[in-house]
Amino acid sequence: MKKAIIASLSVACLAMGSCSGNKDNALQLNKNNIDEIVNAMTLEEKSLLLVGIGMPGMSGTETVVGETDMIIPGAAGVTNAIPRLGIPSIVLADGPAGLRIKPTRENDSKTYYCTAFPVGVCLAASWNKQLVEQTGEAIGNEVREYGCDILLAPGTNIQRNPLCGRNYEYYSEDPILSGMTAAAYIKGVQKMGVGTSIKHFALNNQETNRSYMDSRASERAKREIYYKPFEIAIKEAKPWTVMSSYNYIDGVYASQNPTLLQDVLRGEWGYKGLVMTDWFGGDNGAANIQSGNDLIMPGSDDRRVQIIEAYKKGELSDEALNASVKRTLELIVKCPTFNGYQYSNNPDLKAHAQISRNNACEGIVLLKNNDNTLPITSKSKNIALFGITSYCYNSGGIGSGDVNEAYTVDLLEGMKNAGFNLDTKLAKKYQDSVKEQTEKYDKEHAGKNDAIFAKFTPKDFAINGNEIEGYALSNELAIITLGRMSGEFADRHISEFYLKEEEKNLINQVSETFHKNNKKVVVVLNICGAMETASWRDKVDAILVPWLGGQEGGNAVADVLSGKVNPSGKLPMTFYKDYFDTPGAKNFPYDKIADAKSMFGDKAVNRDSIENYDYTIYSEDIFVGYRGLEKEGKEAAYPFGYGLSYTTFQIEDLKVERKKTKVIIKVTIKNSGDFPGKEVAQLFVTSPHAEKHPLRELLDYQKTDKLIAGQSQELTFDIDFDRLSCWDEELHSSTMDIGEYTFQVGDKKVKIKL
Ligand code: BGC
Repeated sequence: MKKAIIASLSVACLAMGSCSGNKDNALQLNKNNIDEIVNAMTLEEKSLLLVGIGMPGMSGTETVVGETDMIIPGAAGVTNAIPRLGIPSIVLADGPAGLRIKPTRENDSKTYYCTAFPVGVCLAASWNKQLVEQTGEAIGNEVREYGCDILLAPGTNIQRNPLCGRNYEYYSEDPILSGMTAAAYIKGVQKMGVGTSIKHFALNNQETNRSYMDSRASERAKREIYYKPFEIAIKEAKPWTVMSSYNYIDGVYASQNPTLLQDVLRGEWGYKGLVMTDWFGGDNGAANIQSGNDLIMPGSDDRRVQIIEAYKKGELSDEALNASVKRTLELIVKCPTFNGYQYSNNPDLKAHAQISRNNACEGIVLLKNNDNTLPITSKSKNIALFGITSYCYNSGGIGSGDVNEAYTVDLLEGMKNAGFNLDTKLAKKYQDSVKEQTEKYDKEHAGKNDAIFAKFTPKDFAINGNEIEGYALSNELAIITLGRMSGEFADRHISEFYLKEEEKNLINQVSETFHKNNKKVVVVLNICGAMETASWRDKVDAILVPWLGGQEGGNAVADVLSGKVNPSGKLPMTFYKDYFDTPGAKNFPYDKIADAKSMFGDKAVNRDSIENYDYTIYSEDIFVGYRGLEKEGKEAAYPFGYGLSYTTFQIEDLKVERKKTKVIIKVTIKNSGDFPGKEVAQLFVTSPHAEKHPLRELLDYQKTDKLIAGQSQELTFDIDFDRLSCWDEELHSSTMDIGEYTFQVGDKKVKIKL
């Protein structure tokens, strides 16, 4: 019976469309009467406000990517309106590489494409806070101009393992780089008067069985690694909302976890905004609210019933219920929808494409460049473009983090736009294969709505030796593009970390043949995350990593290949020599391929059943990524923070000065080569009591302006002592060790007693 009442209330509300206020009722929501509105609301209305409108056809027992046709088609979800009190629905949309809405609408000839910006990992690889903020502004502008209120981004989870399917949406294995990138992104988006939802809080570091697995980490690892990026971004950029994650943490759902949401997030960090569930995350509406998770998205009637029944039984307190209602109203009154913003549906997509291209360039990492293979100085050289990905370039990843962009510039097009001569016979061979493979795939998948779970990427094929010989004679240079794609619902299989047989053959044959003819070979890695390079890097002359660079990806690579842009990106994660060098490698579902069942996971009968599936132990503790590798004395193929330039830089005058409760560190960076370019000053710290710490940890970073040959720039870091503290398990708090600290930028180090 109760269910029926609630459902009909919801339908009545939806039937009112935009839910403009009831004129006969004097009390209507405004910025100053939120408490009054809370008092005037019935229990049913409160439950409606706290549970979203739902998704047709979805029971709410499986986690999904959000999709609604209400208000803004293709947005992830909307909240319930309560017309009696002048409370409108607000629109929530993904995130993070741009706004995700449907590009076309029924009976409407206008298009609603959004800009695909470089994905998270590429933004982080720029190590450029200003530039990330600028990307945020452009995305925020599209959110506002397309009538949405909250962007479900940034994705801020740590890349604990190179195979996590969503690494492309996230930033780094390092909490400082992740947190600072997230903060810059949030500031940019929110400057546009719309909100963000930093996600997925917390310890959501694998996709396999994501809704039912239990993440188990020490308190120190949580504080110093997994919570840290959230803490930095939340304190610095104040996101309007936080999205709790699907997984359990120590046996309790993140969205029903008062320790996480109340004690840490609100209590210790002073967060004042709203917390929402991930889509159908958690399993009990009352437990969500009682634990401080205010909004349940996209919602289902069951969750409303749970709230109402628990409240009536006294299991859900008035205080918790009203606090969540109040926080939801506080969010609503900030939103463009509430404030009657007349959106244009016409963001400046041309200007944003340019921003996307600039930022894609800035995230490109040059891993190898023997004998100045790059830049390609002469445009008249003929180039043979190998690798099928060159012709069907990956702009973004799979799942809710993908954007519906109007076009993607592939590498062929980008190179042509830059004025290069490409081998047309070879191009045709690949283009024909792309067409053939795509048609076959489309035929096989006709009528199946599975695009959100998988993106078709055509396979490379063998080219015979004689043919390659021909290409080596008629071209001056070979470029081979390798692609890797991943996304929500599934982690990458270990085999994806290594070269596939056909890729190995391609690299071997092309390198041998071109080198025999004294011609060079460049590899472009159009990838979602780290992969193995150690076994094949010696065979090629240059390696470039443009990641998934958004819709202008091909133009951005061409800008760097031609030298129009000098690469200044640095790796935001370690490129291990071997997968098993990853700290905690075995405590990850590296050899499971998520099939349709495990995509959504199994509700464990016993949460202790299957390791890396029902539960995952974060066995490497705080020694994630380079922290662990360096402690074990192992070498990376390419370490965290690595990236070459077409010029050289010198680090000079590293100085540290102690002030009352902080240290000021200054460093000068000089362009000592002859090509204009930017460099990143990566400030690392080594703490006293080496036995309990990583050998060094990133503390901060800054990118220089573009420096011309011989030009220098001084950079200053202002480091409060609390940024030097670490987590003390016994005291259950952060403390700063007394002793000698070493600060390091590049090859320079200074020590100081603190
Ligand atoms: C994802 C979220 C996303 C939500 C709405 C979920 O599947 O985990 O990141 O924001 O869907 O689309």
